[in-house]
Amino acid sequence: MTGEPVLEQARRADAGETSVALGAAVSVREFSVTFAGTQRGTHPVHVLDDVTLEVADREFVAILGPSGCGKSTLLRAMGSLLDERATTEGTAQARGATAWMPQRDCLLPWRRAMANAMVGAIAAGVPRERAAARAARLFEDFGLAGFETAWPHQLSGGMRQRLALLRTCLSERPVLLLDEPFGALDPVTRRRMNQWLASMELTDWIGEDSEEPRAVVLVTHDVDEAIALADRIVVLSGRPGRIVWEVTAQHREDKPHQRFDRDQLLAALDH
Ligand SMILES: Nc1ncnc2c1ncn2[C@@H]1O[C@H](COP(=O)(O)OP(=O)(O)OP(=O)(O)O)[C@@H](O)[C@H]1O
Ligand SMILES: [Mg+2]
Repeated sequence: MTGEPVLEQARRADAGETSVALGAAVSVREFSVTFAGTQRGTHPVHVLDDVTLEVADREFVAILGPSGCGKSTLLRAMGSLLDERATTEGTAQARGATAWMPQRDCLLPWRRAMANAMVGAIAAGVPRERAAARAARLFEDFGLAGFETAWPHQLSGGMRQRLALLRTCLSERPVLLLDEPFGALDPVTRRRMNQWLASMELTDWIGEDSEEPRAVVLVTHDVDEAIALADRIVVLSGRPGRIVWEVTAQHREDKPHQRFDRDQLLAALDH
């Protein structure tokens, strides 16, 4: 495969030599990734194959697929976080700045909740007073009011994940990349988190004042999580990951909660 080094791709994107489709928050075009073998003599691993995906302004897209099919690799590529030794073809880029939330909450145990929340904003260059004012509001909305001075170990698993998500939102980056953000939670807490998240318009919370299109891309193994949260679900095949199925939420007057056909989705995953 004749690939372009990722750093070169990022340089060209920074220099405006590549462009994201007008209005799209994230644009992935004919994108393939191969990693060299991890040990001498091992074969290269072809991870993604010819993936094309546009994420529109205000859209919430969930990516489902079997383990090892390249979901995290695709998400990293959208955030220009791909391992620079990867060989790529095509392009993957977000229009505006991206914020990343990994599976583990990665809270700093030696900082209190509010200080943890502020870390992402400060790293992203958001003025401290502005971030603090916004954080005070978000603690309320994220069900964390009263816990501003708690240490991370004093919070429940669900509260820690909400705090991690709050921290990610405070960075004011318009594209949120969530890599199995609730994967470490027990099923009951996870379901509660999903219900809570589904009840709020996440795209309202990110990239405040940003001129760029806003979007959320969620990688998950959990079909019900994708159904609860997404406007569109994309299913990848086993490695090398290709898009094998894509479906947009339907508004159904008779069954307002049944936005996707679960059986159809499961069949696509078994494909
Ligand atoms: N930096 C890297 N160097 C070499 N191989 C890598 C690298 N990152 C990922 N891979 C390989 O790419 C493949 C896809 O990995 P990736 O993490 O994208 O999968 P995934 O779909 O997110 O899996 P999971 O659902 O288990 O998280 C795996 O075979 C993995 O070993
Ligand atoms: Mg992964």
